[in-house]
Amino acid sequence: MGSTRRGLIAAAAAITLSAALAAGTAEAAYPERPITMIVPFAAGGPTDVIARIVAEDMSKTLGQQIIIENVAGAGGTTGSTRAAQAAHDGYTLVMGHMGTHGAAPALYPNLKYDPAKDFEPVGLAAGTPILIVAKKDFPAKDLKEFVAYVKANASKLNEAHAGVGSVSHSTCTLFNSQLGIKPTMVPYNGTGPALNDLVSGQVDFMCDQIVNLVPQIQAGTIKAYAVAIPERSPSLPDVPTTKEAGLPDYQVSAWNAIFAPKGTPPEIIAKLNAALVKALDDPNTRKRLLDLGGVIADKPGRSPEALHELVVSEVARWTPVLKGANGK
Ligand code: MLT
Repeated sequence: MGSTRRGLIAAAAAITLSAALAAGTAEAAYPERPITMIVPFAAGGPTDVIARIVAEDMSKTLGQQIIIENVAGAGGTTGSTRAAQAAHDGYTLVMGHMGTHGAAPALYPNLKYDPAKDFEPVGLAAGTPILIVAKKDFPAKDLKEFVAYVKANASKLNEAHAGVGSVSHSTCTLFNSQLGIKPTMVPYNGTGPALNDLVSGQVDFMCDQIVNLVPQIQAGTIKAYAVAIPERSPSLPDVPTTKEAGLPDYQVSAWNAIFAPKGTPPEIIAKLNAALVKALDDPNTRKRLLDLGGVIADKPGRSPEALHELVVSEVARWTPVLKGANGK
């Protein structure tokens, strides 16, 4: 081999090594600037509420601010698509949920991301039981009367949800299918704005994640008929479970979790996961989530691997339910 060729090989090796070292240094120094967390719904809904609570705590641990960006549309799939296609450098994350990363593939044949393959899971932020709620003057005193009323008057009733593929849409669809009803389904960019219209009585009822409903129920501005989990929620001890209230087959709980674009380096995912785990152990952050009815996973349930398994099982769970119920 001539000396020129040997020189070229040595130079190429040096460039590769310095690129690797630079990347390693970048990962070691991460984060060096603010991080964007996309919330794929409007402000004021459960995804936004959970994102802001955990991001505030994670920002302190990471030493850089996590900025929330609300990118609403298409049941959360617009913001999730943007996150899937972002640079995989740890500076763009998304707060996904059971809809964007579980139900959406069943409802969007041309979905531009695969929830299990196009993201690096960071960890579960909170479990969120589903509540059946209605405007405050809805003419039913309990779930039995509510079910009888919606069965008799479905064509006159408006049911709010956060867009095809969202949690509220999937859980409404399941509810309607179990009752055999077809109310008018009214889409919003998130259940924050949907809740405003429920409070003002412009829509009649909805099924949604507990965390943004608790303050309104406590204030008496909306009515809660049942929580769709086996035990009552400690944050709403007076609200019966669907089993107690006569609708035992309606059992559904959702979740919110942080994802990064596929290819985000494992060192960065580990730092983000550690910050999330620490946030969920912080007494103040825990209290804020628990007071709103959020459910905090145990340590093994907060790992990226556990979240990957959850996504795979949720896509498998929702696909037949939604296709069978004609969720569109
Ligand atoms: C949903 O229905 O998917 C959520 O409630 C949306 C939101 O967080 O606003």
